[in-house]
Amino acid sequence: MLVKVVSKNFDIPNSHKLEVAKANGRYTSIEKLFSMKPDDVTEEVTKSGLRGKGGGGAACGPKWKLMPKDDPRPAYLIVNGDESEPGTFKDRQIFQYDPHLLIEGIICSSYAINAHDAYIYVRGEYKWFIDRLNEAIDEAYEAGIIGPKVMGHDYRMDITVHRGGGAYICGEKSALIESLEGKRGHPRLKPHQKESEWFFGNPATVNNVETIATVPFIVENGYEAYTAYGTEKSPGTMLFAMSGPVKNPGVYELAFGNKMIDVINQIGGGMQDGKKLKAVIPGGSSCPILTAQEVEKAVLDYESMWDIGSTLGTGGMMIIDDSMNMVDVAKNLIEFYHHESCGQCTPCREGCGWIDKILAKVLAGEGTKKDLDTILEVCDTMNGKTICVFAPAVKDIIKSILIKFEDEFIKEIK
Ligand SMILES: Cc1cc2nc3c(=O)[nH]c(=O)nc-3n(C[C@H](O)[C@H](O)[C@H](O)COP(=O)(O)O)c2cc1C
Ligand code: SF4
Repeated sequence: MLVKVVSKNFDIPNSHKLEVAKANGRYTSIEKLFSMKPDDVTEEVTKSGLRGKGGGGAACGPKWKLMPKDDPRPAYLIVNGDESEPGTFKDRQIFQYDPHLLIEGIICSSYAINAHDAYIYVRGEYKWFIDRLNEAIDEAYEAGIIGPKVMGHDYRMDITVHRGGGAYICGEKSALIESLEGKRGHPRLKPHQKESEWFFGNPATVNNVETIATVPFIVENGYEAYTAYGTEKSPGTMLFAMSGPVKNPGVYELAFGNKMIDVINQIGGGMQDGKKLKAVIPGGSSCPILTAQEVEKAVLDYESMWDIGSTLGTGGMMIIDDSMNMVDVAKNLIEFYHHESCGQCTPCREGCGWIDKILAKVLAGEGTKKDLDTILEVCDTMNGKTICVFAPAVKDIIKSILIKFEDEFIKEIK
């Protein structure tokens, strides 16, 4: 069931060191890269069906095509390693075990969009991973892999790591750019039409770490090697994280299209002794929850997850067992979102706060049935009325827990 596209070198001792990385295939895509035209690289990635692994699942190639052509302004690649969502912890495996794969991916992706400067924005708490990433970047500069001439080719490539300040909202691409520009990390209003991002007024593309780390495989082996994995509509592979009371929690690379229950049992080793599966939050904490019955039917690809009313998100499965109180689960999550709302939009700022306070009241044994109705009303005010999708995502997760596990909420209000 396990596959090795991005995770190929993860188990090799010292895989983060340049010498070991090169001995195990790193940077072999670069020769082929420079034999291709930038547009051909974008076309290959488009045909591969590669989708963004940062949670939204946007098609990568078409996104690169949004970069303006023949524009005199410099283009930028911004790599999103903010990874601050509960349940999501896969990009750090790349920082830890294969930072040279990320650098290789940055060279390939930058070449496709004509960028010579890339920024990697990493969550502030990842100090250890940032140090490891910087060591790899230093090694790459010293070896002439990046710098004025990428591996002897007439192409400059500079990479800078930026350490975030520990705010979840800075993972949202426009808030990330604001933060990178030295401002407060507030999401920007989105334009009506699809266009590139803008960094100091210059065209920019934001992609997740894992997305970028997948590009060398596609460049080197061709799009068909990638579409050989997965399903017709969700081709390829993903790093799926599993946390909670399973026997083998961790990060595993799988092709799209596996049954969730098989992954939990065969890869995760099943539930820890004496525990029974009650629910799964499938793709990081911002996805609607699935009951144990729904988990039996769930298939890990984008379309199948939409069909059962949730999303694949980042592939970070949070496993919940029958000893956990779902009101506690909802309270735990809303505390996080209440704290992390950037506060620009009233429905989000106030809505998260109200739900947090109401759930505290419910858990204190002072809740009423009317309080549960109020939570649902507040959820509705958070949908479609805010600058970014933080608030609608909070609405989805809270509403799904309340509706699917209503009996547990009723029990709390006695
Ligand atoms: C509240 C919020 C937090 C986000 N956090 C992250 C994150 O930590 N990492 C990430 O890659 N994308 C995150 N995203 C998605 C980004 O906005 C963006 O879509 C993504 O980085 C694009 O890269 P991709 O297409 O390669 O996935 C977040 C989005 C929202 C709304
Ligand atoms: S929805 Fe929430 S997090 Fe997003 S911009 Fe509005 S207040 Fe900030």
